[in-house]
Amino acid sequence: MAEAFTVLILAAGRGTRMHSSLPKVLHPVCGKPMVEWVIDAAREAGADKVVCITRPDDGVADGLPEGVTVAEQVEGEGTGAAVLAAREHLTDDRPVVVLSGDHPLVSAEQVAELVEAHVGEGAAATLLTTESIDPAGYGRVVRGEDGSVERIVETKYTEGVPPEELAIREINIGTYAFDAVQLVGALDRVELENDERYLTGTVPVLREAGGKIAAHVTDDPAGALGINDRSQLMEAEGLAQHRLLVAHARAGVTFQSPQTTRVEAAVEIGPDTLVAPGCNLTGTTRVGAGARIGPNTTIIDSSVGDSATVIQSYLVEAEVHESATIGPFAYLRPGAIVREGAKIGTFVEVKNSDIGKGAKVPHLSYVGDAEVGEGANLGASTITANYDGRRKHRTKVGKRAKIAVHTTLVAPVDVGDGAYTGAGSAITEDIPDGALGIARPRQENVEGYAKRVEEESE
Ligand code: UD1
Ligand code: CA
Repeated sequence: MAEAFTVLILAAGRGTRMHSSLPKVLHPVCGKPMVEWVIDAAREAGADKVVCITRPDDGVADGLPEGVTVAEQVEGEGTGAAVLAAREHLTDDRPVVVLSGDHPLVSAEQVAELVEAHVGEGAAATLLTTESIDPAGYGRVVRGEDGSVERIVETKYTEGVPPEELAIREINIGTYAFDAVQLVGALDRVELENDERYLTGTVPVLREAGGKIAAHVTDDPAGALGINDRSQLMEAEGLAQHRLLVAHARAGVTFQSPQTTRVEAAVEIGPDTLVAPGCNLTGTTRVGAGARIGPNTTIIDSSVGDSATVIQSYLVEAEVHESATIGPFAYLRPGAIVREGAKIGTFVEVKNSDIGKGAKVPHLSYVGDAEVGEGANLGASTITANYDGRRKHRTKVGKRAKIAVHTTLVAPVDVGDGAYTGAGSAITEDIPDGALGIARPRQENVEGYAKRVEEESE
């Protein structure tokens, strides 16, 4: 059976170099807060208890996934003080894995490997280290003559750090496994540095007490990347994006231009769907199989059915059903439902409206707070006048109705099944099933007008 272990996620740092009012670990990477990436990796690695260390009222605890225990770091600064804030959640005979909330791309494999190495070595502490990224700012691993880990030298502030230590390329990733009892004992004895209690300060203390310090080297640069400022955040975004696109591609999605495509972490896409250049799929968006998205399309918190097409459009909280076609240049706003095989065309805006199966709104229209029946056709420049300046009203267009070009439907109004409107009408009264509603002044022709004008100007 796999080893039971507890994971502590340190997420209570000040993160001052982000220059942000948002706590560092809540900054999203591909739409998912950093700390959630870490939680997911811990769970996938098999952690049976995940404790997240936060500051009181910093908002980090509010959005955490269910089942995560929260411990508040009320006193003390530094990663060691953070671990001490969670001491009551540790179990004596279980290894404790410490992860940093600012390492979003730590992988489940790295965590699992670390636990295995730690248990195998019977170590007091096992550090995950790497030489595969730029070591600037990280803690460097100082090894003794026999190759064992002696201590970590912090290089966030380089002043006073000897050049031979600054030359060390092996860094402490900030991902560790500890023996729980020895860890807490050592932390109590760590001396403050720069007014902080460093977790890395436990290494020499444990060593002096006769404990074994093991190091497990990894060559995955993504997992090693710590986010202290927004340039590193940008780097993480790129790496995470690549990881997500590769996973979708392996599952059957074609990206014509991965460099210009952004797909957030929670987005789902079915096989045989093609994503053309310049697309941005975010939030809880779900796209079915065999769909065609883009180019230049943004889809936010929306669903797009199998075999649907969305070209050069912007969708927010909309629902596009199977085989429907959207765009180019359509704007679907919250509550827009476009049913099977329906078409929303060029320069059309739809809000809080249900567009029936096979219905068409091909050009230059605004459809708001409306219900459009199956097979209806809204001619070019059909506008629902849904707002009287105070309240919104609904428009109903019956099945197979034909709304002629340039019709204004003044809501509340009901156009019957199979009804017609005359071009240019402002429809204010209901139209019965099968009737034609015309609401425009009759045309009058003034005979001989041109000639008269000519004579007058002589
Ligand atoms: C830390 C390590 C360094 C390592 C680097 C890897 C220490 C002393 N140094 O440095 O050796 O190379 O990570 O990225 O541990 N935190 C708290 N409470 C605090 C302070 C920090 O919870 O009081 C959390 C932060 O939110 C962050 C993590 O601990 O998620 C690491 O803290 P940070 O200040 O970023 O440490 P680094 O200087 O990066
Ligand atoms: Ca950091």
